[in-house]
Amino acid sequence: MAANRRWVRILHLEDNLQDAELILRQLQAAGFDCDVVRAADGAEYETALAGGNFDLVLCDFSVPGYDALLALKRARELRPDLPFVVISGELSEEQAVECLRAGATDYLLKHRLQRLVPAVQRALEEAVERKRRHLAEIARRESEDRFRSVVAAMAEGVIVQDRRGRIIARNAAASRILGLTGKAPGNRRAADQRQRTIREDGSTVCREKHPAIITLRTGRAQSQVVLGMETDGGELRWLSINTEPLKHAGDETPYAVVTTLVDITDRKRAEAKLREHASNLRELTRRLVEVEEEERRNINRELHDRVGQDLAAVKLNIELVRATLAEVVRAQVGPRLDDAQKLLQATIDNTRNIMAELRPPGLDDYGLAVALKAHADTVAQRLGIPVRVSGEDPAPRLPPAVETALYRIAQEALNNIAKYARAKNVEIALATHASDVTLTVADDGTGFDLGNVPADSYGLRIMRERAEAVGARLEVASTPGRGTHIAVNLESPP
Ligand SMILES: Nc1ncnc2c1ncn2[C@@H]1O[C@H](COP(=O)(O)OP(=O)(O)OP(=O)(O)O)[C@@H](O)[C@H]1O
Ligand SMILES: [Mg+2]
Repeated sequence: MAANRRWVRILHLEDNLQDAELILRQLQAAGFDCDVVRAADGAEYETALAGGNFDLVLCDFSVPGYDALLALKRARELRPDLPFVVISGELSEEQAVECLRAGATDYLLKHRLQRLVPAVQRALEEAVERKRRHLAEIARRESEDRFRSVVAAMAEGVIVQDRRGRIIARNAAASRILGLTGKAPGNRRAADQRQRTIREDGSTVCREKHPAIITLRTGRAQSQVVLGMETDGGELRWLSINTEPLKHAGDETPYAVVTTLVDITDRKRAEAKLREHASNLRELTRRLVEVEEEERRNINRELHDRVGQDLAAVKLNIELVRATLAEVVRAQVGPRLDDAQKLLQATIDNTRNIMAELRPPGLDDYGLAVALKAHADTVAQRLGIPVRVSGEDPAPRLPPAVETALYRIAQEALNNIAKYARAKNVEIALATHASDVTLTVADDGTGFDLGNVPADSYGLRIMRERAEAVGARLEVASTPGRGTHIAVNLESPP
């Protein structure tokens, strides 16, 4: 029982002590723990009312020099929500009505006190309910205010449209982003006919295809839709748009739609600039590579035609001179001639090596696979490990610029393997499928951490640039301890 007892603070205006005790006993019997302040007259009542924090007023209709209507007035002035029950020996119907009109919660007669407990219970419950509603209302208003100030302060534009697409609210950011000047929200539609809206490809978006209108029609949210919108001033602004339908519980058709707008014009401009920059850079790299290769070819030709041929002529001359020398002279200058011939042969070999570096031997005449094989053999010999080459050139052959790029990428990959990999096996493969060609260079060496490449190293970067310059894609995969795999993929070779 104790758990159900309720503690209640009562201000009781009653000049009759016996009546007061009777009433108290009834309440106690019904499970109320009463903390009662009894006032015997108006003065005591008013003092107690002003000083105490009561849950309930019980009030005799009349005490000498004072009455319930006056008591009620005072109570309403100080505590409008305080439950107030009039209990009277006699009470006419008019008096009862008057009390209720003045704001009494209930009234009852002393000779029918069986109504006392239910009346008090109801009065207290109503007071609790009123208080709860009051607090909820305050909380709702506060949260609405908070929400309003958050929306107002947001950098994102927020627009609310009713079910017919008319703007019923928008924040300052929305007006700024859309360049909406002046007009009252209600008079205008978000996808105003005069406000041209376009997609990223430049095509016009009709009103029906506007994200907010789609949400109103389908009930589904739209996210990250990028559209360009002309402002009132005629400027095109790019927006990233999200929409959210507002629905009443149990109703699938939205009664409104909330749209948020982020102005991405600057970002889009920066992206376009960056794209242009990257494209310029690619073009520059391509041109640089072209010029470099052209220069190498020229030097190679010069070495071959001028130096190489002259050296060969000198070699022949020396042999002829030796053959025509008299025996005595030959014996005298023979060692010198031997020396000169050795030096000449070394110079011829060095020149050939330089020529091979400048222009891969066989690349122009025999193609990529043959040139790679030749280079792989040299590397294999130098490192003392097998470097296998598989695959054929596609038919028809790749354009010279692409062949050169692929060759140079493989060359740098092999350089890196020689420098770092400590590999036991290297595989080079040239694979041709219907619409693409892939060159792979794989080793089973130390591997490396791709996220930790020294800033001052250029090999991998140049590989990528060479690939991109001819429209190919470079993929590098490496795991420390498990080797490195480099792939250049060229889709639909030109
Ligand atoms: N096959 C490989 N095996 C192990 N480590 C490698 C391999 N290829 C590259 N690396 C690592 O990646 C780093 C970057 O290679 P990258 O070719 O870009 O530069 P580099 O060879 O150090 O210098 P640069 O090529 O500019 O002369 C290397 O320093 C090396 O640590
Ligand atoms: Mg390198």
